[in-house]
Amino acid sequence: MSLHPRQFAVLGNPIRHSLSPVIHGHFARQFGHAISYSRQLLERDSFAQYVRDFFANGGGGLNVTVPFKLLAHDSADWLHESAQDAAAANTLAYGKNGIEAWNTDGAGLVNDLMGRCGQAIVAKRILILGAGGAAQGIIGPLLDSGPASLTVANRTHSKAAQLIDRAALKYPEVELKALSLQELAGAAGSFDLIINSTSLGLHGDEVSIQPIIAVNAFCYDLSYGPTAVFAQWARQAGAKGVADGLGMLVEQAALSYEIWLGVKPETTKVYQLLVEQLN
Ligand code: ATR
Repeated sequence: MSLHPRQFAVLGNPIRHSLSPVIHGHFARQFGHAISYSRQLLERDSFAQYVRDFFANGGGGLNVTVPFKLLAHDSADWLHESAQDAAAANTLAYGKNGIEAWNTDGAGLVNDLMGRCGQAIVAKRILILGAGGAAQGIIGPLLDSGPASLTVANRTHSKAAQLIDRAALKYPEVELKALSLQELAGAAGSFDLIINSTSLGLHGDEVSIQPIIAVNAFCYDLSYGPTAVFAQWARQAGAKGVADGLGMLVEQAALSYEIWLGVKPETTKVYQLLVEQLN
């Protein structure tokens, strides 16, 4: 084992509450890897230089979180298909193409849904609430998993329509629809899986859709912890099952780890440890 641990970091603003150092610390212990993983608070105008210097100094890999995922995509020399489709990146590495960018968010969500949550996606009717960066990051991997239909409902209808128009070019076989939140009122019973990608919990806002939408659906909130307001709402609404985004956080991290170090960590125990820590 090298005496100098390889350097990794997560870049964001704010970044103080990021669980990524804890998660990657657990992963490294599984393999006996010597790594050092830190949180870095950055400003927008120092982002690109930080990334270049980090890799020039032999850094092993970077995670990127809000609000820098688009900048990470733009700073890379090479984009994996996952980063291209999402128009955003959460994982940077240095390889034969220079600075390489991936997006493991969508695959992390799919792994958590199909693994820990036990939810099939094939032939299912999916509703995504919200049409911002988080929605764009998950839509490709969900559509790759073979749902019967995918609807995006957003407060601002035009943003949902844009996402759907883009997806329609690549997935002509899937039934795709864009709705406003008001138009959801008549859609009770139309969805098997509802995924909240809105940032409403971050702003202290409340869920404004009719609870009947969630009955008989599995509801997944990309947020976790106190901002998982949609998960709380779904439990009260009588959803068939509910999960918050902590599992996705662990799964996307495991995929990043595999990109950097070539081995896939075990996630079940790490998820359990995080639940205990957060409680
Ligand atoms: P992110 O990168 O986290 O997706 P974003 O790009 O700012 O952040 O997108 C936030 C999403 O949450 C948008 O879909 C936004 O709806 P608008 O497009 O109409 O702005 C949605 N959102 C935020 N607050 C909301 C609320 N109170 N109710 C419903 N949707 C909300």
